[in-house]
Amino acid sequence: MAFAVSSTMLFVLLVLLPLSATAQPYRNVSLGGSSITANNENSTWLSPSGEFSFGFQQIIRGGYLLAIWFNKIPERTIVWSANRDNLVQEGSKVQLLADGRFEMSDPRGQRIWAATLSSVGVAYGAMLDTGNFVLANTNSDVLWQSFDEPTDTLLPTQTLNQDGTLVSSFSKTNYSRGRFLFSLQSDGNLVSYTRNFPMDNVLFAYWSTQTVGSGFQVIFNQSGYIFLVAKNGSVLNFVSSNAASTSQFYQRAILEYDGVLRHYVYPKSANSAGGRAMGWSTMDFIPPNICTRITQTTGSGACGFNSFCALGTDQIPMCECPLGYSLIDPNDRMSECKPDFAPQSCNEETSEADLFSFNDMLNTDWPLSDYAYFQQVTEDWCRQVCLDDCFCAVAIYRDGNCWKKKYPLSNGRVDPSVGGKALIKIRNSNATADVSGSKKSKRSILIITGSVFLGSSMFLNFLLLLSIFLFSFKELKGATNGFKEELGRGAYSTVYEGIIKNDNTETVVAVKKLHKMATEGEEEFKAEVDVYSFGILLLELICCRRNYEPEVEAESEMILADFAYDCYKEGTMHLLVANDEEALNDKRFDKFVMISIWCIQEDPTLRPTMKRVLQLMEGSVEVPVPPDPASSITSI
Ligand SMILES: *[C@@H]1O[C@H](CO)[C@@H](O)[C@H](O)[C@H]1NC(C)=O
Ligand SMILES: *[C@@H]1O[C@H](CO)[C@@H](O)[C@H](O)[C@H]1NC(C)=O
Ligand SMILES: *[C@@H]1O[C@H](CO)[C@@H](O)[C@H](O)[C@H]1NC(C)=O
Ligand SMILES: *[C@@H]1O[C@H](CO)[C@@H](O)[C@H](O)[C@H]1NC(C)=O
Ligand SMILES: *[C@@H]1O[C@H](CO)[C@@H](O)[C@H](O)[C@H]1NC(C)=O
Ligand SMILES: *[C@@H]1O[C@H](CO)[C@@H](O)[C@H](O)[C@H]1NC(C)=O
Repeated sequence: MAFAVSSTMLFVLLVLLPLSATAQPYRNVSLGGSSITANNENSTWLSPSGEFSFGFQQIIRGGYLLAIWFNKIPERTIVWSANRDNLVQEGSKVQLLADGRFEMSDPRGQRIWAATLSSVGVAYGAMLDTGNFVLANTNSDVLWQSFDEPTDTLLPTQTLNQDGTLVSSFSKTNYSRGRFLFSLQSDGNLVSYTRNFPMDNVLFAYWSTQTVGSGFQVIFNQSGYIFLVAKNGSVLNFVSSNAASTSQFYQRAILEYDGVLRHYVYPKSANSAGGRAMGWSTMDFIPPNICTRITQTTGSGACGFNSFCALGTDQIPMCECPLGYSLIDPNDRMSECKPDFAPQSCNEETSEADLFSFNDMLNTDWPLSDYAYFQQVTEDWCRQVCLDDCFCAVAIYRDGNCWKKKYPLSNGRVDPSVGGKALIKIRNSNATADVSGSKKSKRSILIITGSVFLGSSMFLNFLLLLSIFLFSFKELKGATNGFKEELGRGAYSTVYEGIIKNDNTETVVAVKKLHKMATEGEEEFKAEVDVYSFGILLLELICCRRNYEPEVEAESEMILADFAYDCYKEGTMHLLVANDEEALNDKRFDKFVMISIWCIQEDPTLRPTMKRVLQLMEGSVEVPVPPDPASSITSI
């Protein structure tokens, strides 16, 4: 415990230390003398108020960025940087040379970057309170300023002139030039583009002011408004019309890595916060919905290939992988998604159509990825035609129209304006690949299962349980009011109470959420439910609904399985439900026990597929007599 506390404090200290940078009284940066080295000395050039700093920020171990940042807030938000595509090594140096050149050099003295001066005669440099770093002559005429070479951010009093651009960062923590660009073109139009990453050219304009011939300058004025003006000063377009006082709030407008230009404010003190949190909050942003704005013929769209974009309730676009897919780079939400299953065989003799099924998503589309189109067909026809085609990754069905889509899927979006539904083809399960997997690792792919043991007869609720399989994370989150009402907590999972509304009826349910999943993103949460866990859950429902004790679940799993099989074999299944009359009288009771025993077979190849389980439960297929779960010699 003592160790835990001290390591937490250590962490806090490490985070806060850079704040205690060598605070020197403000002075001009003089010729020849001043330099800053990228190391642990933390020396910076502060603005007179101390609100902005110029110096090196350590971005990764041994990697530094020459930058300007908000110095009085814990976040130390970067507003400008030099040479952003390449971090510099420790020992690199920035200095104002005696002849007025302003340069950054590596530890061997090789020049890495230099300010491009408009004329000779630099007399001094200064970090101003506006966040602008300037080089000026003896008359204080500015010969170079960081405001003229913005990276992704504009600050109050800064202007963006014709040919001025902002390029988004690659990600939240990687300041390299990324995937989007915001430009006041020389023709006067102010445009947001996708960038042809990693090249510099642009691909697709997803927002513009349509001011060709009239746009002159983007102004972020002292009152906190951001707008485009014509040469005569008249306002043509507001980029942000929600202003906040610059004396009470730090402010910035940034083209973020997700392609949205946002105007943020941060209270300078708790007194000035006026109800706002002590953190960056959004005042305004463009475009309103980037997910539906980008439809480009080359490039992936607002998110990576095979991914889809959906606007959250907070208006922030989220990139997610479809069920059965995962991010190629787990650290980059905007990277491509890859299928987690082997592709469908195109061999005619071994057509695998029966090994695949669909995950349906309403209001979802990947426009421009089609290779076949059929009109006046039924949804079932559309499903079958995709299932039978090894090239078909997704089918879109909308108003009698059916489109077949191929990899890689681009411009993915989920939005009410889309309509119709996407039928995303996934391999049912990986029975052969599962053989090596131990039970523990199988548990870790179980994401969520809902179970019903409160209220009415458990058997009636089994049917509901089936439908819960089809619930998304969002719906379960909604049903449980954001996983608020905890019913019990075990070593591996927590059970929450929730309410599922269905056809005007409300049913109290328990939703079981695995801890491992709770710490991961929502995509992981949506992986498939595995049959083994389902079997255990079924047994838990049958046996333990009265005194559900999640804390003993892991240990009791095998005991439960053995006990259930023994009772089944000896025909003493009533012991399982402690003589619950209602349960015993239910005709489906035996069947459910048998199904659960099939699901918990030690030999994964004996376990039925989830689709098969559903058929067995519905009664369309007779349930065969299950073998002893522990004996893997038995075969069907
Ligand atoms: C910085 O240099 C300019 C020009 O020489 C001078 O006007 C100004 O007072 C100096 N500021 C400080 C704080 O030394
Ligand atoms: C700079 O920060 C480091 C920790 O990151 C600290 O050890 C060092 O004393 C600081 N140096 C100065 C000059 O403040
Ligand atoms: C930032 O992203 C770029 C582009 O993917 C990559 O080349 C670079 O190595 C990344 N930088 C860091 C510090 O991770
Ligand atoms: C200013 O310029 C804009 C665009 O060029 C034009 O529409 C507007 O009439 C001008 N306003 C004045 C007062 O000249
Ligand atoms: C900033 O722009 C707004 C909108 O055009 C205007 O009302 C306000 O007076 C301007 N503030 C300053 C300081 O120029
Ligand atoms: C299916 O098997 C492949 C390789 O055998 C494996 O990489 C993949 O993760 C499996 N997919 C699922 C959904 O279990």
